[in-house]
Amino acid sequence: MQAYAPLIKLLKKAVEEQQHALNSSLPKEMYEPMSYIIGLGGKRVRPLLTLIGCDLFGADPQEAIFSALAVELFHNFSLMHDDVLDKAPLRRGSTTVHEKWSENIALLSGDGLLVKSYQALNKSNPVKVPELLKLFSKTAVEVCEGQQMDMNFETWDKVSIENYIEMITNKTAVLLGCSLGMGAICANASAMQQEHVYEFGKHVGIAFQILDDVLDVYADDQKFGKQVGGDIIANKKTFLLLGAYELANESETKELDHLFYSQEILHSEKIKQVTAIYNQTHVKELAINEANKHTDIALKHLGELEADISKKNNLKTFALDLLKREA
Ligand code: IPE
Ligand code: IPE
Ligand code: MG
Ligand code: MG
Ligand code: MG
Repeated sequence: MQAYAPLIKLLKKAVEEQQHALNSSLPKEMYEPMSYIIGLGGKRVRPLLTLIGCDLFGADPQEAIFSALAVELFHNFSLMHDDVLDKAPLRRGSTTVHEKWSENIALLSGDGLLVKSYQALNKSNPVKVPELLKLFSKTAVEVCEGQQMDMNFETWDKVSIENYIEMITNKTAVLLGCSLGMGAICANASAMQQEHVYEFGKHVGIAFQILDDVLDVYADDQKFGKQVGGDIIANKKTFLLLGAYELANESETKELDHLFYSQEILHSEKIKQVTAIYNQTHVKELAINEANKHTDIALKHLGELEADISKKNNLKTFALDLLKREA
């Protein structure tokens, strides 16, 4: 988006410098995968939100650059470990770290990235560090809790939509809220304004993860950059699966049970048959509807922000575009 070009430029420079520093660190077995995953790019949504959050409340986005960097490093750490947990072969269109190197490398290199994220945060204005650290650490541990719930649910029979929303709020949404919230902290926004911008980010994040579940089944694999059908193979309790159970008739319910309990079925066949039930039950529409509900909640919080109207509109456009993503 044109309005954010200066923020994107600022961010690009900071990320490239960080990547360069990682690339020249030793032992290379530990640092190369960090540089690799960051170099694969991605949308850089979270750090951009941090800079946007700072700019929104009238401060120089440079004030939030170390928070932005911290958030992106943390996100990349979480992806490196997520791909181990999910046994994922592809990330951002390339081989995942644990497949390219090994699981041990992914664990250790991921740990290193997590620490690097805290080191980046610590370079922020010292007056702001305690408050930033409080939000960042609270969020980081919530992400881990969400990831644990995501794994637990793989083997639970009864996962409610409410359980699911709690899980994705933790694993995904709070980091988007935190990204904006840290920008607001750097801009000296009031506690109330921080709360609204955080809630805006959180509800955009809930919608974002529901749509990520939809893309996992319906994306064009040339654009997606991840393995299409990965959630079905890993028995993830996605919105699509939970919603399909709600909408399914008796025979579709039996078929879903069979597909998810059977050990013998080929992955490609399982993806095909589960997708067919998703299509029959029209669960994709239910998912989009649920995502829209959270987008609406987000927009209510955006409405409460005491900021320049054109900046608020830019953020709204950015969020709505993000929710139309194909990768
Ligand atoms: C992937 O996030 C992890 C989820 C929460 C779904 P993104 O889709 O933002 O990943 P990148 O950083 O753009 O690759
Ligand atoms: C990701 O959830 C959440 C975190 C990385 C913390 P997913 O497992 O759905 O993310 P993708 O689809 O692998 O990017
Ligand atoms: Mg995953
Ligand atoms: Mg996962
Ligand atoms: Mg996913």
